[in-house]
Amino acid sequence: MATVTEPRRETQRTFQTQLLIDGKFVDSRSGKTFPTVNPATEEVIAEVAEGDAADIDLAAKAARKAFDSGPWSKMDARDRTRLINRLADLIEDNIDELAELEVLDNGKPLAEARNGDLPMVVDVFRYYAGWADKIHGQTIPVRGNNFTYTRREPLGVAGQIIPWNFPMMMVAWKWAPALAAGCTIVLKPAEQTPLTALRMGELAMEAGFPNGVINIVNGFGETAGASLVAHPLVDKIAFTGEGNTAKIIMRSAAETMKRITFELGGKSPNIVFADADIEKAVDGALLGIYLNQGQCCCAGSRLFVQEEVHDQFVNRLAAKVQARKLGDPFDLKTQQGPQIDKNQFDRIMGYIAKGKEQGARVVTGGERHGDKGFFIKPTIFADVKDDMDIARDEIFGPVLSVIKFKEVEEAVTRANTTDFGLAAAVWTRDIAKAHSIAHRLRAGTVWINCYDVFDAAAPFGGFKTSGIGRELGEKALDNYTELKTVTVSLD
Ligand code: NAI
Ligand code: MG
Repeated sequence: MATVTEPRRETQRTFQTQLLIDGKFVDSRSGKTFPTVNPATEEVIAEVAEGDAADIDLAAKAARKAFDSGPWSKMDARDRTRLINRLADLIEDNIDELAELEVLDNGKPLAEARNGDLPMVVDVFRYYAGWADKIHGQTIPVRGNNFTYTRREPLGVAGQIIPWNFPMMMVAWKWAPALAAGCTIVLKPAEQTPLTALRMGELAMEAGFPNGVINIVNGFGETAGASLVAHPLVDKIAFTGEGNTAKIIMRSAAETMKRITFELGGKSPNIVFADADIEKAVDGALLGIYLNQGQCCCAGSRLFVQEEVHDQFVNRLAAKVQARKLGDPFDLKTQQGPQIDKNQFDRIMGYIAKGKEQGARVVTGGERHGDKGFFIKPTIFADVKDDMDIARDEIFGPVLSVIKFKEVEEAVTRANTTDFGLAAAVWTRDIAKAHSIAHRLRAGTVWINCYDVFDAAAPFGGFKTSGIGRELGEKALDNYTELKTVTVSLD
C-alpha cells in the first residue's frame, strides 16, 4: 500500500461549500448555511449551504431531465465506463488532498483515510466502470411462436442519503453502481461531513459528467433528506444510517412506491474458539471493534470468547488496546481519533455509564480522553450478560462487550439472539466447524479468521433489521435497474 506523505493541514484553504445542481455550484434558495465542525478540535471548518425542500426540488428536476432527455440518456454504456474511470483517475490524482479533507471533517486517522478509505473509493469506481457495458438481459424460451427477451434498464433518478462514518466511501458505494447502470443522482451527504462529497462533485464535473447527472444537496435529515424521500420525480432511495431513520423513510417512500435499499446498523458477534490462532484473533477483535473509532455498522461489538481461553484472551487484548495511540488524527502514528460529534460522544458515554451500572467490569478505558475534541478511550467491558444494554444496542463507539461461552451450540444461539444481522466472525482452526457455523449465523457477511475484509466485488448488506438489499458486487446493480420483458410475435 502507498505510504502517506507528510500531511499539509489545509485548514486555511477554501472549500467547496455550495450545492451542486444541474452542473453548477449554487447557494441554497433560502441563503441559509450551517457549520461543519472539526471533531478533533471542535472548531468550525466552514459554513456550508443548507439545502431544503426548494433545493431538493430543483435537484430532482435536473436529475429527471438528465435521465429522461439529456445526453446521459443517449450515451453508450461504454462511454459511461470511460467517464466513471475518469472520475476514478481524478480521485487518485487528488488522493492526498481528499484524504486530508476527510480527516479534517470526520476526524479519522490520516493513515486510515489515506491507505484504507481512499484506495477502496478508487477501486469501487473502477470496478463498476467495468460493469456499465455488461448489464445483460436474457432470451427466454416461452411457449408459442414468440420471442421473449429481457432488458435491464436504468431505474431512473436515485435519491441517495448517506452517513458520516465513511463519507467518501459511502459516496463511492452509492454513485458507482448507479452511474454504471445509467441512473441519475441526487445525493444528500450527512450534515456532519459534507466536504469530501462536494469535492467529489467538483471532480465529477471535471471528469465531464453531463449536467444534472450528479446533484448534491447538503442539509439536514428532517428537511433536505425528508423532501428527497417524498419527491415524486425520484424513483428510488438508497439509504445508509440508523434503523429508526430507515423506518421513517420507508413509510414516506410508500406514498410514491419508491424502490428502497437500506444498509443499517448491527451488533455483530465475533466468536473466538479455544482452538483459534489466538494472536491473530486478538488482532481481529481489536480491528473489529476499534476501526474508525468504533463507528462501523459491522463493528464486532459482541466478542464471544470460549471459556478455556477467555482470561488470557482478555488480558492480551487489553494490553494491545492500552497501547493504542489516541490523538491528533493528522499525526501518522495516531490509531484512534475523536467520535464524530457531541451527540455521538454523549450517547456513547451514556452506554459506558449503563454498562458500569448494570454490573459489567471495565477492563480498560471507560472514560473520556483529554478535554478537547470528542475523544473516548478504547473501552473493554468483561463479564457482560446478554441482556445488558451494552450487549444489545448498537453503541457505534469504541466500546467492546466481552461475553464468555462454553459450547458451539450455545455460541451460535446466543450470537443469533439479536434483531440485527449485518456481520459476524468466527475464529477457529477447525475448518468444518467454521463453515458450519458460518452457514448458521443469521448475518449478511461472515468472516472466518479475519474481520472487516471488504472488496468492491463482494456483496455487503444485512439480514433482519440490518437492512434491505445488498451493496457492492454485481448484486448492487439490481438496486439501480428495472427489468423489462419484451415479447415479439414471430407469426
Ligand atoms: P441518521 O440515520 O439519522 O443519519 C444518516 C443520514 O440520514 C444523514 O444524512 C441524515 O441527515 C439523514 N436523515 C436523518 N433523518 C432523516 C429523515 N427523517 N429523512 C431522510 N433522511 C434523514 O443517523 P445519525 O443520527 O447520524 O446516527 C444515529 C445512529 O445511527 C448512530 O449512533 C448509529 O448507531 C447509527 N448509524 C449507523 C450507520 C451505519 O453505517 N449503518 C451510520 C451512521 C449512523
Ligand atoms: Mg439521526
